[in-house]
Amino acid sequence: MTESLLEVRNLCRSFGSMRAVDDVSFVLERGRIYGFIGPNGAGKTTTMRILATLDVPDSGDAVLEGLSVLVEPRKVRDRVGFMSDQFEPYANLDVLQYLDFFARAYGLRGRERIDVVRSVASFCGLDSFATRPATGLSKGMGQRLHLAKTLLHDPSLLILDEPASGLDPRARIEFRALLRELSAAGKTILISSHILAELSETCDGVLVIEQGRLMASGKIGDIARSVRDRHRMRMRVLGEVEHAQRFLVVQPQVHEVRVVETSVEFEFAGDDEAAAELLARAVAGGLRIVEFVAQGANLEEIFMTTTRGRLS
Ligand SMILES: Nc1ncnc2c1ncn2[C@@H]1O[C@H](COP(=O)(O)OP(=O)(O)OP(=O)(O)O)[C@@H](O)[C@H]1O
Ligand SMILES: [Mg+2]
Repeated sequence: MTESLLEVRNLCRSFGSMRAVDDVSFVLERGRIYGFIGPNGAGKTTTMRILATLDVPDSGDAVLEGLSVLVEPRKVRDRVGFMSDQFEPYANLDVLQYLDFFARAYGLRGRERIDVVRSVASFCGLDSFATRPATGLSKGMGQRLHLAKTLLHDPSLLILDEPASGLDPRARIEFRALLRELSAAGKTILISSHILAELSETCDGVLVIEQGRLMASGKIGDIARSVRDRHRMRMRVLGEVEHAQRFLVVQPQVHEVRVVETSVEFEFAGDDEAAAELLARAVAGGLRIVEFVAQGANLEEIFMTTTRGRLS
């Protein structure tokens, strides 16, 4: 069962004559992770700021758990955690004091505040950094603190604006694991990033935006199928790879056959049924096949196909 958490309806926001967000509509379901991708200046941060009630749309609306950002922004704010693309902790506070400061601002009191600060710090792997100055953290630890701050009031929607930029590979993997845990705990996550390979591993769905307009949305596999009617396949064989090449070039719906080391790669325009028939013919024709795979949907390809590369 899926349940919609956020409905964005015909959102528009202009700065002078620049249409930063232009009639954007989408729905996010509870407990899912969504990638928000698009070129620089596409309108991602502007959209996220509106959802976090830090900016107001010119028209349209966003409704979170039945609450409109226009009508009840304070209640929406209680349910949204926004991690902006900039993090500048205040001086003279250590990690726990920093979190405690925000926990107070969110209205947490007494024992509950202490417990929440400790558990959030611990969840984000900050235990051994508790008394470090918040301003002296590495980029990776700073991002963990930033995420911890975003989680203090137990929001149902997390909006993360490029949280992984500048992190080293290990920090990114660890950050990704935290996001998966949060989504497993029922949080909905909207995350913008330019690191597409990373998003395709983490996200259940993606939204592609360019010049303020939503160009595509949905599951990565579904969008990939809708933007192209062929997919890339790879066949690895025992024995001479040229035999496989000669077999494939004369098959229907097979295009652009090329040998890559001990495999043959090709574009295939058929469906699963046709792929099964192709494989059966190959085996009947004497090829000894050890691998026959469709290459996974590629977010970079979706990005390049659905956006036109115009900067705004
Ligand atoms: N406060 C503002 N005043 C004027 N123009 C703005 C303002 N905020 C955003 N814009 C413009 O709106 C457009 C969308 O910007 P936005 O920051 O939302 O893009 P983005 O998709 O987040 O880009 P990036 O990937 O570079 O972060 C840009 O052309 C930007 O210059
Ligand atoms: Mg941005």
